[in-house]
Amino acid sequence: MFRGSLPSDVQAILCSAASTWGGRDIYVGCSGNFTVERALASRGDYALHGCDVTIYSSVAGAFLAGDDFRLEIKDTRFDWLAPYIQTGEGKAATVFLASRLVEGMNANGEIKNNVYYERMTRAYRAQFPSLHEKTCQKILALKMRLKSYFNGDVMEFVDMTPQDAAFVVYPPFYAGDYTNMFKKLNLIFDWDAPTFGELDDAALETLYEKVTSKSRWLFGTDTPQEKYADFLIGLARTTNRGVPMYLYSNSGEKKIVQPAQKIEVVTNARLGEGMQIGEKLTIAKLTYSQFQALRSQYMNAFIRPGQASEAYAALVDGYLIGVFAISTSPNPAQAYFPDHIYLLSDFPVAPTSYPKLSKLVLYAALSKEAIRLFERVARKRIRYLYTTAFSNNYESMKYRGLFKLHNRTEAGPSVTDPYQKKFKINYEAEAGKWTLADGLKLWKQKHGETSQYADKNYQD
Ligand SMILES: C[S@@+](CC[C@H](N)C(=O)[O-])C[C@H]1O[C@@H](n2cnc3c(N)ncnc32)[C@H](O)[C@@H]1O
Repeated sequence: MFRGSLPSDVQAILCSAASTWGGRDIYVGCSGNFTVERALASRGDYALHGCDVTIYSSVAGAFLAGDDFRLEIKDTRFDWLAPYIQTGEGKAATVFLASRLVEGMNANGEIKNNVYYERMTRAYRAQFPSLHEKTCQKILALKMRLKSYFNGDVMEFVDMTPQDAAFVVYPPFYAGDYTNMFKKLNLIFDWDAPTFGELDDAALETLYEKVTSKSRWLFGTDTPQEKYADFLIGLARTTNRGVPMYLYSNSGEKKIVQPAQKIEVVTNARLGEGMQIGEKLTIAKLTYSQFQALRSQYMNAFIRPGQASEAYAALVDGYLIGVFAISTSPNPAQAYFPDHIYLLSDFPVAPTSYPKLSKLVLYAALSKEAIRLFERVARKRIRYLYTTAFSNNYESMKYRGLFKLHNRTEAGPSVTDPYQKKFKINYEAEAGKWTLADGLKLWKQKHGETSQYADKNYQD
């Protein structure tokens, strides 16, 4: 439920800065999940003060600071929760668990008319006593405690903070994000909700000014802050597609964290320039590190990498000719094609003498043999492949003919985002229409011509 916790590398940078704050009380604005406080508490004996505005953080903050928290049930459909909110930890556990219960409700509090959610809610309620007990135990076992918790606006909190204290804040990246996230919980529970302002760009600017007036300070943001450029102590981007985090502080050494992907060298021979394609098309499962190595080598650098569920090599007579990967993560195509698998990426090796080698990779991905492999991963029947091309052209040359256009949206191009292309084009194709053997034959008939300018293989 809770988004926005700090990655461990960022926590390490924060803790190293705080290690120079010698005995000062540390005030943490926008506590969220208390990651900042927990990280600090695990590395030193700090006097910590937290602050946030949501029911989720405030019920936990009150428990951690040893304060009372007024929590009542206002939606009678949830009266059955009453026995669980008798203690501080019980209240916190109930609010955390209710975050899952409200998934079955729409924004107005009406129960969603959906068999999946009805089943989930029933099962969740049946398991509630044991889930609640376990969550209470976890909360009680937490080592971190707060010296105080402020249930209110960070702007007031920073004003209340003594000038010689240390202040840390990691505000939300999008104003209003958290308010929406916890809206449904506020329909169930009555509590002393504070009034607060949204932290839009103007408010953040004021906040940073106030924060940087303290004797020791640190703040994190997803956008570089020119004004504080001299105070940049950390830049962390922990995954390839991850949002970068900029950390500014008046203490600590400069550190940079960049993603490192695990790769495993694939030693198979590859189809090369001037080589004639062979007779037997096969597919073989790749490990994730092998997939990452091949993707880094061959996939168009302007395609944003995604997380694959499984990846496969396509080989002809044992020579690697390309790679394709699938994803079973939920995606919008589910609504149109419940029995589809998402083709996350597909690319040929290069250079070769075959300008349409990328289509042979698709013939392999669409084969009966590939479908059997996909079904093992997806644990359901697969009848369609669905994929997305990002292209500056109206059609993707690679998918045209083999896939049918499902829909197309026009977005870019963007000068700042190199990944953004003019069109986002979704394609679908009936899967398993040929065997690998027939697929290779068909490809040879239709697309098997060679050319000395073959390195222009279409990848988008
Ligand atoms: C990015 S999260 C903080 C994450 C937290 N540091 C952690 O690691 O778990 C931002 C938090 O700011 C809180 N917030 C938003 N507007 C606020 C305001 N005006 N005053 C105090 N907190 C606010 C949100 O409720 C949310 O919990």
